[in-house]
Amino acid sequence: MTQREHPILLTPGPLTTSRRTKEAMLRDWGSWDADFNRITTRIRDRLVKVMHGEGTHECVPLQGSGTFAVEAAIGTVVPKDGHVLVPVNGAYCQRIAKICKVIGRRFSTLDYAESAQVRAEDIDLKLRQDPSVTHVALVHCETGTGILNPLAEIAQVAARHGNGLIVDAMSTFGAIEIDARAAPMDAVIGASGKCLEGVPGMGFVLIRRAVLEKCEGNAHSLAMDLYDQWVYMANTTQWRFTPPTHVVAALDEAIRQFEEEGGQPARGARYAKNCEQLISGMQALGFTPFLSRAVQAPIIVTFLAPADPTYQFKRFYQEVKNRGYILYPGKLTQVETFRVGCMGHFGPDGMNGAVAAIADTIKAMGIKRIGAAA
Ligand SMILES: Cc1ncc(COP(=O)(O)O)c(C=O)c1O
Repeated sequence: MTQREHPILLTPGPLTTSRRTKEAMLRDWGSWDADFNRITTRIRDRLVKVMHGEGTHECVPLQGSGTFAVEAAIGTVVPKDGHVLVPVNGAYCQRIAKICKVIGRRFSTLDYAESAQVRAEDIDLKLRQDPSVTHVALVHCETGTGILNPLAEIAQVAARHGNGLIVDAMSTFGAIEIDARAAPMDAVIGASGKCLEGVPGMGFVLIRRAVLEKCEGNAHSLAMDLYDQWVYMANTTQWRFTPPTHVVAALDEAIRQFEEEGGQPARGARYAKNCEQLISGMQALGFTPFLSRAVQAPIIVTFLAPADPTYQFKRFYQEVKNRGYILYPGKLTQVETFRVGCMGHFGPDGMNGAVAAIADTIKAMGIKRIGAAA
């Protein structure tokens, strides 16, 4: 173990949070209390600012994990007769397609290899070929691999065609620039326990007000209705149903630290440095990243598992954990991989420590062939 009381999470949320963020959860709040509701209002205003959506976007928070917010966004923003184009280059894109299927929204997919970025030209062509498409639903960083999709270009294409754009920015919001002034985005989805470094338990959707005003009656579900949540909050300042009070208080404190750090540019720069250090350290050990550097987001890195027959993820994970770091399993079906997150409340020391723990683990496990299996 390191000197730390608990291991550092190298995972894409839940992730390692600061002591200040954890301490913000030591107080209990009443959901009707005006002080608590001021916290909610403050968070909503600051989240809008992170993507420069002042005057154009409304922040609608929602209880639950990130997927709840994705499902709520699609169900609320896409009308029952809408048609969603889902570019798919990984597991979270597939989940959006599945959500559309489950909640009864027509959808089409545009399929890519998991190592390939979604291309704006392909979206353009598809939208020209099929005028029945009403919305594009894009995953900004496909956390299944760590690939970054070109949001700004795709937003321009969607806008040119008059299509709504829904962005799953779960693993990028706060770390990678999303600028609502540059292109109209109907909905941008994030969550408390990701790059803002809060704890998990709530999502939020930043919805263009002009769109949201027309969403009454769209939702497939009572609890997932973001229009209703918005109207209720506007009228009462309260959450519609029991709020995750401690999560909200922790997010408020986490955003304070995010702002003190220098906001999105500084957070993104820290993660980019973590990512650089991780990749160069792992390559020096002989590991190969799954993605090319050109498409890699500074969020989470997928590495090919060693070819050595003594390698076994479960043991590898446990040995690295014993040395103070929590890794993440791979999510690819074709090749064996594992993932290492660059996000969370740690900097270069954390990343160097992680690489050293992995180096030590390899030795302890007797892994000689670190190069990937064919
Ligand atoms: C891009 C993306 N979308 C959706 C989700 C789903 O979030 P959750 O597992 O919190 O439901 C995640 C989780 O990491 C994610 O990275």
